[in-house]
Amino acid sequence: MELLDGRALANELTQAQQMTVATLKQQGVTPKLVVVMVGDDPASAIYTQSKQRRATKIGMASELKRLSAETTEADLLAVVRQLNTDETVDGILVQLPLPKQINEDHIIRAIDPQKDVDGFSPVNIGRLWLNQPGLVACTPNGIMRLLAAHDIDVAGKNVVIVGRSNIVGRPLAALMLNANATVTIAHSRTADLKALTKTADILVAAIGKPHFFGIEDVKEGAVVVDVGINRLEDGTVTGDVDFEALKSHVSAMTPVPRGVGPMTITMLMDQTIEIAKERAK
Ligand code: GUN
Repeated sequence: MELLDGRALANELTQAQQMTVATLKQQGVTPKLVVVMVGDDPASAIYTQSKQRRATKIGMASELKRLSAETTEADLLAVVRQLNTDETVDGILVQLPLPKQINEDHIIRAIDPQKDVDGFSPVNIGRLWLNQPGLVACTPNGIMRLLAAHDIDVAGKNVVIVGRSNIVGRPLAALMLNANATVTIAHSRTADLKALTKTADILVAAIGKPHFFGIEDVKEGAVVVDVGINRLEDGTVTGDVDFEALKSHVSAMTPVPRGVGPMTITMLMDQTIEIAKERAK
C-alpha cells in the first residue's frame, strides 16, 4: 500500500511557499491573512492559532481578530466590510461555527469573493460547479493536490464521497467532476451505504464516525481518503476508516493524523499567496 502522507507533502509545499513569500516581499508585497474568530470555542481557538502560526512561519503577515461571544451580526458585518476594503489584506477567513445570534450565510455572503480564502462564498461555489474555479475550499483542494502528487488520476474513476457538507463533500464532488471522475455523493440517508462504498475506485470518508468503514466495505485495490478526525476517549485521534484492517487490502490510503489534515492549512496559505501575487502584478 502506498501511504498518502499529507504531512510530508505539506512540509515540501511550505518550503516552496516560504521562498515565494520572500520573493513577493522583495517586490514590496507581503501576503496577509486575517482570521476572525467570534467567541471562545476551544476547538476554534486551536484551529485559528495554528493558522496564525503557519502564516508567520512562511513569512506572511497575519492578524487574528478575536471578537466577543456577544458580537452582533451587524458588528461582524462591519468588520468584514472593513477588511474587504483594506488593500493590505489578501485573505479573509471567518472561523466557523459562529454564535447563534449571527447568521453564518449572511457573513459568508458579505466576504469579498476575491478574498474568500475558504472558498465558501456562493460566487466561488458557483464558479467551482461551472468548472471556472476561483478560490476553492481548502480541504477538498488539499485532497486533490495529495492525489495528484501521488500520480493518482481520477479521470474515469468511480469516486464515492461519503458526506455532503459545504466544507468538504460538496466542493470535493465538484473538483472530482471537473477532473472527469464519475462522482457519487453519499450521506446519512443513503440506502445500503456499504454496498455503494464497495463499488468505489476512490473512497472518500467524511462522516465523523471512528472506524466506520472496514475491509468488507471497500473494494480490493481501492484508493482511500480519510477526512475523519475523531478523538477517542483515550485521547487518540483516528479516522473514519479502519486503517489497520485496510492497509493490506487497498492500493493507497491517507493516515489519520498526518493525512488530509496538514494539507488543509497549506492550501489556505497557497490561496492567500496566489491573491497576493495578483496584487504584485
Ligand atoms: N471551521 C471548521 N473548519 C473550518 C474551515 O475550514 N473554515 C472556517 N472558516 N471555519 C471552519
